Amino acid sequence: MLYFPSTMSLTYHLITMGCQMNERDSETLAGILESLGYARAQSAAEADVILLNTCAVREKPEHKVFSLLGELARHQRRGAIIGVCGCVAQAFAAAIREHAPQVDLLLGPRNYADLPVLLEEARSNRHPQEALDWDRCIPEDLPATRDNTVTAYVNITYGCDNYCAYCIVPYARGPLQSRRPPAVLDEVRCLLDQGYRQITLLGQNVNAYGQDLDEPVDFPELLGQVDQLCTGQRIRFTTSHPQDVPLRLIEALRDLPSVCEWLHLPLQAGDSTVLARMGRGYTAEAYLDLVARARQEIPGLTLSTDVMVGFPGETEEQFENTYRLLETIRFDQAFTFKFSPRPGTTAEKMPDQVPEEAKQSRLQRLAEMVARVARQVNRHQVGEVLEVLVEQTDAKSPRHVRGRTRGNKLVIFPGEQDLLGQMVNVRATEAKLWGFRGERLP
Ligand code: SAH
Ligand code: SF4
Ligand code: F3S
Repeated sequence: MLYFPSTMSLTYHLITMGCQMNERDSETLAGILESLGYARAQSAAEADVILLNTCAVREKPEHKVFSLLGELARHQRRGAIIGVCGCVAQAFAAAIREHAPQVDLLLGPRNYADLPVLLEEARSNRHPQEALDWDRCIPEDLPATRDNTVTAYVNITYGCDNYCAYCIVPYARGPLQSRRPPAVLDEVRCLLDQGYRQITLLGQNVNAYGQDLDEPVDFPELLGQVDQLCTGQRIRFTTSHPQDVPLRLIEALRDLPSVCEWLHLPLQAGDSTVLARMGRGYTAEAYLDLVARARQEIPGLTLSTDVMVGFPGETEEQFENTYRLLETIRFDQAFTFKFSPRPGTTAEKMPDQVPEEAKQSRLQRLAEMVARVARQVNRHQVGEVLEVLVEQTDAKSPRHVRGRTRGNKLVIFPGEQDLLGQMVNVRATEAKLWGFRGERLP
């Protein structure tokens, strides 16, 4: 048993960037700090420990980490500990050591179990500490302080073995590690017992679930087991790599009562040559077939995607193919990005990088079309009565709450705190890019 001096009056502040993985990991970081006796501070200015949970997926969030570290240095002068966690810590440790040597703690995403020991070391001898083991097994017994009382994230896999040519995630998060089914099921059971109404299963590619386990289990099977635990709650999952979507997953989305009819299926590019150079393992035609099959089988399916413009070598014509495919499919929601070269990836070294102006104009064209389509799709649903799970109060408009449809569309409508966690019927009265404004039906 380790002994830690009393930290009763100490506080922490967490800054979280990036994806749902990081949001979930920050809940673990908060859980560990609270188990050590730290309390959440009102702001960075008051905190004894400030942790940045960082994202390296594009250049912009990576740079933000370095500018934030510059700003936070003043807190160190009053004695605060500054730590960098997450994907930038793992993938850019050398740059942090060089450009921000004042950082007290560097922790890669698989190393949070070391936080108690390293924090204590950093506090007692003010010497930088780090744990950056890239392919460590993440233990099951880490505590978590969850941010929301209605909806919860549950990791099913960590890391990724896909190595898409543009992507830094496998370098930042290490190889695939699937959690064993009993560990996932125990966590879900426990959350449902606590009253959570929605569970989102998380993995970089959920369809790779089980590939690294000795027992024969795959994602559709796990989904079936999670569904069995539910009694009216909702299950979602993200992300599905289009290459690996089995027919059984489509059947699970169709047949399992708790599993919401929403599929986030990152396309990345709508041109088969670009897709091949990205190493995605599917063609534009195969993707279109998959979408057709899914829409045919799953009534009311909502589809969202991620797309990138300006991958090295992408010609104007290839971009047009992407544009047209998106226009044909008519996604409910599409997140559009400019390719950003990431150190160490194969795409970074490809010779035919697309000039910034071309990337910018392609992004603008695509984003405008995608927004237009999303609004049109939503406009079709105005007047419909939607089943909405109320997830939180709306910070922007007082006496309004925010919830989601089964299709993951945001709905904002007049309501009070007492609706949190309730499944209510809401009539969509106004279409927005992000979803709907609505009114609750009695
Ligand atoms: N595991 C998920 C993706 C995680 S990263 C998947 O396989 O789909 C989230 C999104 O960021 C990706 O879908 C991609 O569209 C985008 N992205 C990843 N690397 C990028 C890069 N180098 N430049 C621009 N966008 C990138
Ligand atoms: Fe990155 Fe590809 Fe893995 Fe997704 S599947 S995290 S895009 S390497
Ligand atoms: Fe997520 Fe960004 Fe890491 S998208 S996996 S936090 S690089």
